[in-house]
Order: sequence, then C-alpha cells, then structure tokens
Amino acid sequence: MTTILNESAVSASGGSGEVLAIRGGRPLRGRVEVKGAKNLATKAMVASLLGDTPSVLRDVPDISDVKVVRSLLEVHGVMVQPGDEDGSLCFDPRGAVSAHMEEIDAHAGASRIPILFCGPLLHLLGEALIPDLGGCRIGDRPINFHMDALRAFGAIVDKSYEGIRITAPDGLTGANIELPYPSVGATEQVLLTAVKAKGVTELKNAAIEPEIMDLIAVLQKMGAIISYEPNRVILIEGVDRLNGYDHRAIFDRNEAASWACAALATDGEIFVGGAKQQEMLTFLNVFRKVGGWFDVKEDGILFRRGGPLKPVIVETDVHPGFMTDWQQPLIVALTQAQGESVVHETVYENRLGFTEALVKMGADIVVHPNGIDGGNRRVPRRALEQAAVIKGPTPLHGADIVVPDLRGGYSHVIAALTAEGESVVSGVGVISRGYEKFFAKLEALGADFDVIG
Ligand code: EPU
Repeated sequence: MTTILNESAVSASGGSGEVLAIRGGRPLRGRVEVKGAKNLATKAMVASLLGDTPSVLRDVPDISDVKVVRSLLEVHGVMVQPGDEDGSLCFDPRGAVSAHMEEIDAHAGASRIPILFCGPLLHLLGEALIPDLGGCRIGDRPINFHMDALRAFGAIVDKSYEGIRITAPDGLTGANIELPYPSVGATEQVLLTAVKAKGVTELKNAAIEPEIMDLIAVLQKMGAIISYEPNRVILIEGVDRLNGYDHRAIFDRNEAASWACAALATDGEIFVGGAKQQEMLTFLNVFRKVGGWFDVKEDGILFRRGGPLKPVIVETDVHPGFMTDWQQPLIVALTQAQGESVVHETVYENRLGFTEALVKMGADIVVHPNGIDGGNRRVPRRALEQAAVIKGPTPLHGADIVVPDLRGGYSHVIAALTAEGESVVSGVGVISRGYEKFFAKLEALGADFDVIG
C-alpha cells in the first residue's frame, strides 16, 4: 500500500520523489481539486511587474513553474509574500531593479516563462536579459515570433552566448503585428508589451485560449484597454500607467482533463472539484464520443466511463480545438477502447514520443512521424505534424519506464495505474512542474504506489 501521504513527506522519507513503484489494475476513485491554471498563473505573475502598486493573485497552484517565476521576480527586486488567503500571493514591484545575468542564468533551462519578462522589463528598466529557455522538450520551440514582435515595437535584440539582451533606447511604440501561427506565448508577449507601448497595437492571428482571455481580464483590471475583435484580432490601446490587480486565476483545464482521462483509463470515477464546463466543451465532446460519462455540478465535474470505450479520431489544435496537452492522457484511455483510434498532433513536432513507454507496457501504438492523411480533416496540415494510430483494447502490463516531460509523464503514471502488475516509473519530478500535490491526489484516489527514490 501507499506509504507516502504528501509531497513534503517525500523529502522526510529521504526520497527525492523521482522514482515511483506503482502497482496498477485498480480503478482510481474519489475527489481531487484543481486550482489556478499553470498557464495563466505564471503569466499573471509576470504582469504584476507592469503595475505601479502591488497585485494579488488567488488560487496560485503550488507547482515548480510558479516557484521559478516567483524567484525570477525576486531577483528583479519584486517582493513576493503570501496573500490574505490560502493559495494567494502578493507581488510588490515598487522596488524592481535590473538583475545580473548570473542571477537570471540560475533559472536557465527551468521554464519558458522568462521570455515573457521582456515587455514589462523594457517598460520598467529599458533592458531585459533572457536566459536559455527550458520547458518540456516536445519540439524545437523557437522564439522567432516573440523576437519579431518585440522588434516591431522598436526593441533591439542582441543574442550572445550568455542569452539574449533586449533594449529599447527609444521606448516602445504600438505596432501592427500578424502572427504566422496563433501562438499562445507570442500572443502573451504582445499583450504584456502593448499595454504600455505608445499608441495602438493591432494583433492579427492571435491565440484566444481561455488562459489568454483571463490574462486580458487581469490586464484590464490593471487599467489596460484591450478589445477582442472578430477573427482572432486583438486591439490594444497603450496607456501610460497601470495599477496592481486582485484576481482569482482561471481553473487548470489541462489538469482537469488529465484526471478525467485517468478515470476513463482505469475505469474509475473521479470528481474534479473546480472544473468548469465552458472552457472544456471541446474536451467533453471527445470524452463523450470515446464512451465517457460526465455530470457537470456547481463545484466541479464528475467523470467516469458510460460503457465500453470506443475509438475516436482527434486532431489537436489551438483553441477552440482539442488542446495538444489533452492528447497524452487520452491516448492512455484509447489503449482500452475497442477499435482503431487516430490522434493527429498538429501543434508540436515531437509530442508523441511518450507512447514508446506505452508500447513497452503492451499497447499497440504506431507513430507516423510525418503525419498521415485522413478524410474530413478539420485542421490544415502543418509541416511538423505527427500522428499516432492506437489499436485497442490491449491489456497493459507493468514495466520500467522513464518519463519524458510533463504531460507525457502524467500519462505514464496513469498507464502504470491502468496496467496489471508493478511498474517502476523514473523521473516523475517533472510532473510537479504542472500538477500540484500530485502524490497526495493519487493517494486520495486510492492509487497503490511507493516513492522509492
Ligand atoms: N512557435 C514558433 N515560434 C515562436 C513561438 C511558437 O514557431 O516564436 C510554434 C511552436 O514551436 C509550436 C506552436 O508555435 O509549434 C505553438 O506554440 P505556442 O507558442 O502556442 O506554445 P507555448 O506558448 O510555448 C503554451 C503552453 C503549453 C501549451 C501550448 C499550446 C505555457 C507555459 N505553455 O506553450 O503548455 O501546450 O501553449 O497550448 O503556457 C504544458 O502545459 O505542458 C505546455 C507545454
């Protein structure tokens, strides 16, 4: 049986929380709570740098990506303290200063958020130093859209062996920008820069994920003037000054979808407290088509199977499509569906590698690195597309596996919990980048595991 109660008990046990021995084959049942979205909270924290007064963010998840951004804010002189309720943080940017490259570099490779410091730091200090970026290795993850946008605002970008130095000797001026692809990060870059740039910015082909809309809400609370026009156009009228904000982060729909798929894969029943329907409409449609059953309540959504699982054809896409972060846990469930499913990954070029471990556990999955054509495709094919063909149902058995990245890692753990027998899953520390209290939640759902390293 599980011997670990929570993440802090892991260090007390002497383990680093990197290796789990998991005995699968029993359904996950119970309730988990999701807090604020990783992909909003970290950006809202950066936005606090734009205010003349302190900001309060509520429902901040206790995950390592938040710790990285907190510490980057602190090296820039922002005072970060607990807020007036559990899970809230207060950011006071009034003492913000330039940081040294060495201090910033200590965060190199830890997260992709540092790139979003550019606009706010340029407004505040006239200079931004950006370390090498981290994040999940799921593709090349270039930053050309970000740099092109900053140049359009009048910034000068110097790349050196240390990282990137960006300056704006003549200040930043609103621009007309059209993104080649509706990139989440590049849209956030433009928003965080345009709100205090001189004049109007028109952003075409913007990403419109719910987390971006929530960031717009944060910026509007601060005093920004941002309008969302039809056809992915966002207009931002620059203002001279912004105040702090008080904001409750939107719930983490990626975590909610992950637990929903865990209920599907293990044939369990999970109530995800804090999950909301509106932001998950596309996921819920696919969940239902695959044979899942859900019940939307005031305070969350209950997920379980509604009968035998059925195969589906899914294409990942930008919002309002099926998110790329949802396909990994869904694929674990699809190994238990009766028939052939296809998942087209259209957002990243290397986000199906995690399926190798599932094959080791007995799944029948073939990855087509250059994608495959299929009739009635909704998403226009991209050069970097891949596809996975999953034939089920295949019983899974325990195996020794190493997790590759955040979402792939979560899926490996769920696969191990679905499989008969014991699995040893290594490298699970990366899951804490995006899943708060992961071990405690697994335990609350009755998972049988030990932290062995
Ligand atoms: N892209 C470029 N150039 C750029 C920026 C992006 O070519 O300058 C390409 C990427 O290579 C990719 C596509 O555009 O093929 C989409 O990337 P996007 O910029 O939208 O992604 P991101 O901002 O880096 C965020 C989330 C990801 C999530 C994606 C898509 C954060 C911190 N990360 O990444 O979340 O998958 O949007 O929704 O918000 C995760 O949570 O595990 C995760 C990876």
